[in-house]
Amino acid sequence: MSRPKIIALVGGIGRDSINQKLFGFFREESKELLDFDQFGISALPYFSQDLENDPPPEAAGFKKRVRESDGALFVTPEYNRSFPGVLKNAIDWASRPYGQNLWSGKPAYIIGTTPGAIGTFGAQSQLRGVLAFLDLKIMNQPECCFTFPKELTAGRLPEPSREFLKMCAAKFAQWVSDNR
Ligand SMILES: Cc1cc2nc3c(=O)[nH]c(=O)nc-3n(C[C@H](O)[C@H](O)[C@H](O)COP(=O)(O)O)c2cc1C
Repeated sequence: MSRPKIIALVGGIGRDSINQKLFGFFREESKELLDFDQFGISALPYFSQDLENDPPPEAAGFKKRVRESDGALFVTPEYNRSFPGVLKNAIDWASRPYGQNLWSGKPAYIIGTTPGAIGTFGAQSQLRGVLAFLDLKIMNQPECCFTFPKELTAGRLPEPSREFLKMCAAKFAQWVSDNR
């Protein structure tokens, strides 16, 4: 059977984003189960209601990829105890125009990392509220609030972290297959 296609949005858009690295590890640990389609959200223009009925090509292309996905993965940094505006902008694009929310019913999972101890808990709890409003089917457990390992220098995750991500990825694959 073909793997479900999962649109992946990574809220860290910097060159050395640790959330992009986390996504790379997550993708690696689930490569036999899930087919990720990462959309580079920094390419999207700012959402405006002036544009929602005839979106520019980047936004139209993004909406098509959301529409064709079987689920969604949100990888979020924490900015001031919330998730970054660039991620909200992408979410808003696919939620509009009114009555045409493309997120509705999609199985979803949130992961994220910071160097700090709370591991994006603040960002994730705010993002969860937005995704619940948009009617995504969010997998709430296991929480993947990940303190980015300081020892990560050679691009390899320490074994306990790798095992944890592998377990989260396998549960999400099951969640997608149960809820798509
Ligand atoms: C505007 C801003 C606000 C931040 N606020 C938080 C925060 O509330 N909690 C936290 O743990 N880290 C915070 N950080 C630090 C980020 O966790 C850190 O920069 C991380 O590398 C961002 O993820 P990224 O590398 O994937 O972009 C903040 C960073 C920035 C730039």
